[in-house]
Amino acid sequence: MSLPDWSAVKSLEASTLTELFARDSDRVAKLSADVAGIHFDWSKTHLTPELIAAFTRIAADMGLVAKRDALFAGEKINVTEGRSVEHTAERGEGSPDSVARAQAYHARMRALIDAIEAEAFGPVRSVIHIGIGGSALGPDLLVDALGRDADRYEVAVVSNVDGVALETALDRFDPQTTLIAIASKTFTTTETMLNAESAISWLMQGGVEDPYGKLVALTAAPEKAIAFGIDETRVLPFAESVGGRYSLWSSIGFPAALALGWDAFEELLEGAAEMDRHFRLAPFEANAPVLAAFADLYYTQVRGCETRATFAYDERLGLLPSYLQQLEMESNGKRVTAKGEPVTYPTAPITWGGVGTDAQHAVFQLLHQGTRLVPLEFIGSIEPGDGLAEEHHRQLLLNMFAQGAALMAGRKNDDLARDYPGDRPSATLLLDTVDPRTLGAILAFYEQRTFVNAVLLGINAFDQFGVELGKEMAKAAGAGDQSFDASTNDLIARAFK
Ligand code: F6P
Repeated sequence: MSLPDWSAVKSLEASTLTELFARDSDRVAKLSADVAGIHFDWSKTHLTPELIAAFTRIAADMGLVAKRDALFAGEKINVTEGRSVEHTAERGEGSPDSVARAQAYHARMRALIDAIEAEAFGPVRSVIHIGIGGSALGPDLLVDALGRDADRYEVAVVSNVDGVALETALDRFDPQTTLIAIASKTFTTTETMLNAESAISWLMQGGVEDPYGKLVALTAAPEKAIAFGIDETRVLPFAESVGGRYSLWSSIGFPAALALGWDAFEELLEGAAEMDRHFRLAPFEANAPVLAAFADLYYTQVRGCETRATFAYDERLGLLPSYLQQLEMESNGKRVTAKGEPVTYPTAPITWGGVGTDAQHAVFQLLHQGTRLVPLEFIGSIEPGDGLAEEHHRQLLLNMFAQGAALMAGRKNDDLARDYPGDRPSATLLLDTVDPRTLGAILAFYEQRTFVNAVLLGINAFDQFGVELGKEMAKAAGAGDQSFDASTNDLIARAFK
């Protein structure tokens, strides 16, 4: 079947969350799961055993088991580009050949890190990681989440072509003791290549005798990096079958492996592998990525929700919402099926979010009383990230729990301005701690959930043709093309008089 049939899930009678809790004293146990140091609680969503059964039938119609097996077997499931999808092989879960290749590339990365630690490139104190999209968001998240107490190397991740971004990083560091990691799967992305050229100029101006000797390339196009002038020994390849937004497990994770240490990087991979195994082996009714995707699809297909928001009640996970935006919107923001037919239903909702408790004082008004229904996801950790008085962390978590409760229960008031309708859904991910293993598991969870969504939507999560048109037009404008619309021509003329 190429198009899913949502009629069974649409026809089920809808109850409020409060009614669902009143009806089943075992609801929390039935709608939660514990995997890899993460407690998942979907009891405050509208999922029911009946809905799960109905979605399970859709999953069967859409061939989820076979497609999951094909993913792990390295079959060419990225049909529009005729490619395998092998990010799971990076963490040891894939075909034996692909796992062996990933391990060989990891060994290369490790050897380079050992050499840097042994000062084979002179004293190194800092790394500027230059990349964009999937070549930046993952490493940035890892270093930000886990690197706060690491004192091995300073890392700056620079993505934007806006020179302010690079200049800010350059100002922080000494060119004599800084490596530049150029991260680009294709090694052609204009922002990255321009930032790389400017960083090389900075090394030269800083008196570095061999600026190209300070460069490291993280890429699936090693020949392009070598042609750029980077010595082969400092080119860290990864497989073409690892998609950009799924690439932090590969050599794209280099700055994290360097800053956190190799053991931490391996723990990250192991945490992800544990989630992969859970995804492969757990029955759907107890399978975290599958249940999360069922809830996602319920809200988009049945309740017409156009967005979904993730709030990290943990400063260390502050970059998670931006990371998820690329993962989910670039993967599943599609309007045709994998076979190229137009879809007749909404695909991915808009992913957004922020950090609690700050967000409570900024955007939660709309979530509690606005006219739009926004399914939420809260993420917090039992173990604090700070060493201050316990009250900080207690308040943080109490606020997270209270928001979920308030959104669900609401509060009646005759004055409608003060009335909270309630019945607003949220899922909660409560982590034991924020460490490499748990973070690996969370990120793999989100990847697999995105995949399940795509399979049930009948779309290909692994291409991204939608990003090309704007790139082409920027290039054409740069080459002097004036055949744009009148507004665009006018703006170009004003900016570049
Ligand atoms: O423009 C989108 C995109 O292709 C992303 O999919 C990718 O993560 C990013 O650009 C960077 O691409 P590259 O790693 O090839 O520089």
